[in-house]
Amino acid sequence: MSARKIEDRLVIASHNPGKLWELRQLLGPHGVDAVSAGELGLPEPEETETTFRGNALLKAKAASTASNLPAFADDSGLCVEALDGAPGVYSARWGGEHRDFCAAIARVERELKERGAEPPYRAYFICALAIVWPDGHVEEFEGRVDGALIFPPRGTKGFGYDPIFLPDGLDKTFGEMMSAEKHALPGDGSIALSHRARAFQALASACLNLRQT
Ligand code: IMP
Repeated sequence: MSARKIEDRLVIASHNPGKLWELRQLLGPHGVDAVSAGELGLPEPEETETTFRGNALLKAKAASTASNLPAFADDSGLCVEALDGAPGVYSARWGGEHRDFCAAIARVERELKERGAEPPYRAYFICALAIVWPDGHVEEFEGRVDGALIFPPRGTKGFGYDPIFLPDGLDKTFGEMMSAEKHALPGDGSIALSHRARAFQALASACLNLRQT
């Protein structure tokens, strides 16, 4: 069965202005008006699930129920193989209350050492997306990018764990790439680079009407 299309209005279940900006860039050309949960005064639910998919679904469901509109949410993070997938869904929380990612990166390095892990430190970023409609219909997508962690961190662009993540096949960390390079959504149908762009690419081809402006 084909996926349900997003029509003219969508609530973004995020209070993060950066995410809203990125999504407006993606959805605008398809005639979709994205309004944020923050702009509608909706509360931010606690991310209590243990999977990326579970948290994305929880946030989208809460926003759809509260607004009676289709709602979109994402959840993402870094999984390190030698740390049994940590920090995973706790990626943001490893930055502490002040979202200090120097401290989070130092913790990743310390835990790898404590476990006696040897490079290459295999890792991947993952992004789960969920759209929930008021009648309960759900569409879900996932994007993943594999690579290795390097220390010391390289680059000052990006955010979070970008400076230690070297995507497979490239010699620059995400922290050394401009946003356009990291998230590049190729127009020729080839695969995007970042986990988020890959998940969006899957969403766009399934749920957006290919209206060109
Ligand atoms: P959330 O999806 O907003 O809950 O964020 C998850 C956390 O995962 C972020 O705070 C970052 O620490 C990390 N993360 C997710 N995507 C990326 C990325 O593209 N680069 C660096 N860190 C990321």
